[in-house]
Amino acid sequence: MARHFLNLGDAGGDALAAIINDALDRKAARAGWPKGRPDAGAPLEGRVLAMIFEKNSTRTRVSFDMAMRQLGGAAMVMESGSMQLGRGESIADTARVLSRMVDAIMIRTDDHAKIEEMARHATVPVINGLTDQSHPCQIVADLLTIVEQGKALPGLEVAWLGDGNNVLHSILEAAGLMKFNVRVATPQGYEPDGGFVKAARARGAGVTLTSDAVAAVRGVDIVVTDTWVSMGQSHAAEKIAAMMPYQVNEALMAHASPDARFLHCLPAHIGEEVTQGVFGSAQSVVFDEAENRIHAQKSVLLWCFGAI
Ligand code: CP
Ligand code: NVA
Repeated sequence: MARHFLNLGDAGGDALAAIINDALDRKAARAGWPKGRPDAGAPLEGRVLAMIFEKNSTRTRVSFDMAMRQLGGAAMVMESGSMQLGRGESIADTARVLSRMVDAIMIRTDDHAKIEEMARHATVPVINGLTDQSHPCQIVADLLTIVEQGKALPGLEVAWLGDGNNVLHSILEAAGLMKFNVRVATPQGYEPDGGFVKAARARGAGVTLTSDAVAAVRGVDIVVTDTWVSMGQSHAAEKIAAMMPYQVNEALMAHASPDARFLHCLPAHIGEEVTQGVFGSAQSVVFDEAENRIHAQKSVLLWCFGAI
């Protein structure tokens, strides 16, 4: 059975901790090296990752490509529209064919059921590069960034502001696995999927749902937001208006712990979910977070190949 990485729970808490530790070690071991030089031992030498994109991407495509190079392997990128998948070939047959040709598949798509279908029919690992439901690779990078900032995950207080979306779902999953607490502030009607809230609570995470942005942020260690309009959604004026009280600006950030950090998966929309004042502040670690996509995913890939 191939080890798929469709959601963080596929790995579980112990593996997630091991993935983060491996990423920290690998990142430190190659500090200052040219970015394309393989890690010592080139652990994925001879392995090839195929990436399928049904949505746009900058960070995910570049970071997975660089991750494979740094592990000694190679990657290829395909836009689904230029594949037979884009003109009706089934996901099942695509999975079967790619499994004969490459060693792992990463896919970014809309409906999460598509990635589950891919995993059912692939005999090589399938990795979730974002679906409408979740974005687990992003959150491994976020956890790595938080740990690098000297903050322990158990007991951490995290505030999420804005839209209850795919990125938040993976944060909630991480909260359950790593035992931290999430205060979610959204306008009414934009709450996260109840299943993720319930599962996080069942695993022992504290999850608070509120419409009060200041109450959510008060004293927290981490403030996170994301675009108010995810890929595939329309830029509706009424949604933007409902989200405005949840903008992460200097006044809101002042309610967090003085040592709090600001995270955003990017791309950011300055003047919507975050102001330039917060985005460019000393508390913002968004570009460490972006770089960490490479380091985090190298360790996710190694986990998928059974090396962690
Ligand atoms: N954060 C993230 O996944 O970025 P891309 O959409 O650029 O891949
Ligand atoms: N929630 C965003 C994340 C982009 C990386 C989206 O799905 O578009």
